[in-house]
Amino acid sequence: MSEELSNQSPLVRLNDVVIGYNPESPLVTIPQMNIYPGEIVAIAGPSGVGKTTLLRTIAGLVRPLSGVVEVCGKSSSDKLPRGEVGYIPQRLGLVRHASVMHNVMLGANAGHKSSWELLPSSTAKKHALEAISSMGLDEKIREPIRRLSGGQQRRVATARTLAQSPLLIMADEFLSELDEGTMAMVLDVVTEYVRESGGALIVVEHDISRAKSMADRMLVIDDGRVNPFITEITSMEVKL
Ligand SMILES: Nc1ncnc2c1ncn2[C@@H]1O[C@H](COP(=O)(O)OP(=O)(O)O)[C@@H](O)[C@H]1O
Ligand SMILES: [Mg+2]
Repeated sequence: MSEELSNQSPLVRLNDVVIGYNPESPLVTIPQMNIYPGEIVAIAGPSGVGKTTLLRTIAGLVRPLSGVVEVCGKSSSDKLPRGEVGYIPQRLGLVRHASVMHNVMLGANAGHKSSWELLPSSTAKKHALEAISSMGLDEKIREPIRRLSGGQQRRVATARTLAQSPLLIMADEFLSELDEGTMAMVLDVVTEYVRESGGALIVVEHDISRAKSMADRMLVIDDGRVNPFITEITSMEVKL
């Protein structure tokens, strides 16, 4: 790790963490992992190994089986500050009958720093319009989600998260279904957002060469070396 990084406090800190849904069959053990402001970290590995579960654990959606998970200095048992963590799920969770604008406004509104201190709606709207534009979706703004292609829907989910202005973005296979040109565009926009905001991006990517090309660091979760149920994050690719 560079000296520059180690002088900052990490946005994400995992210590002796075991993740999974059942203590009898843990999925992944993570001795230590820190993610620093400005970093893009890819989590790679085969299907079913626990990549999504790791992301959901960091996002506070799944409790770790044991160990400490801290995000923005708060442990996962505390309530995270509203809006600080943006999550782009693998299954996008868009409102299918509602328009692109409606869906992205949900993100902009989730970015309120507290639920009672409402962002003026003109500001939320401005954030939403900027995010839609940055994802090249101006033409689709009034279109209901169900009429969009898979790749377009993925871009709406990305716009929804950008409109939220989170510090930490967690993206689960968010580049799938995109053609090469669109993929490069989406990645450029999100990378620039992360570098400028001093936040971080954690991206799950099953395609290892794609993961390598986009990330500063890569964590490879390797399947079944020790025990069919326990996988270790290999130290080869990780610079912790
Ligand atoms: N909510 C859940 N409850 C119990 N088991 C689950 C749940 N979600 C996923 N799993 C199981 O956990 C394992 C890892 O899943 P997942 O994290 O989605 O893997 P990946 O994203 O690497 O493909 C799989 O065996 C999956 O069936
Ligand atoms: Mg997954």
